[in-house]
Amino acid sequence: MSTHIAAAPGEIAETVLLPGDPLRAEWIAKTYLDDVTCYTQVRNMLGFTGTYRGRRISVQGTGMGQPSISIYVHELLAEYGAKTLVRVGSCGGLLADVAIRDLVIGISAATDSSINALAFDGFHYAPAADFSLVRAYVEKAEAAGARYHVGQLFSTDSFYHARPELRDRLTEYGVMAVEMEAAALYTLAAKFGARAMAVCTVSDNLVTGEETSADERERTFAQMVELALDAVAA
Ligand code: HPA
Repeated sequence: MSTHIAAAPGEIAETVLLPGDPLRAEWIAKTYLDDVTCYTQVRNMLGFTGTYRGRRISVQGTGMGQPSISIYVHELLAEYGAKTLVRVGSCGGLLADVAIRDLVIGISAATDSSINALAFDGFHYAPAADFSLVRAYVEKAEAAGARYHVGQLFSTDSFYHARPELRDRLTEYGVMAVEMEAAALYTLAAKFGARAMAVCTVSDNLVTGEETSADERERTFAQMVELALDAVAA
């Protein structure tokens, strides 16, 4: 096992879906995968492996925020040989037309985190998604007639930001939505030569004040996951 994941070598697939909530990981595994096994329960951050249309896929909870996702993604990449990582999360729309229930595919992720500032010492690294994954996801979203946007995410370290007015600048520069994990995921994937993408459903819009109901969040989450599974299994 690694420090935070209790899997034996070979128990985790090369392709891993990454919801923040471990109970969502369990729901994805039990709803969509066949021959499911739970490979870790450390800290209740559940991870499962199964098959989707005959292809091995794992689903690992990451927790919220860049420090938490960095732990799981680092161990998946460094110790379990993960090659394709897709975060399936939620985000807050920063543009008026990034409406609740829409999907946002993050081609890049700005951040207020100091993780990369420390790692790159004065350079401002631009965390970016893998193009082949983005293309595959967009093809599936198009075919399904889903409402989606492709653009920049903002990965914040503070859900309750000390200076929320700073987000207006991001809106001004066309940043589509705020979430809390993509920048760390993209940076780690690049470091280990793996492919990564984050797709998020818009749970609330910070410009219009609209919010989804719990029921709507569940339905849009399911559609986002189905498209992700189809995209990685293609
Ligand atoms: N901020 C950060 N992460 C989020 C938000 C938000 O407003 N909404 C959904 N995920």
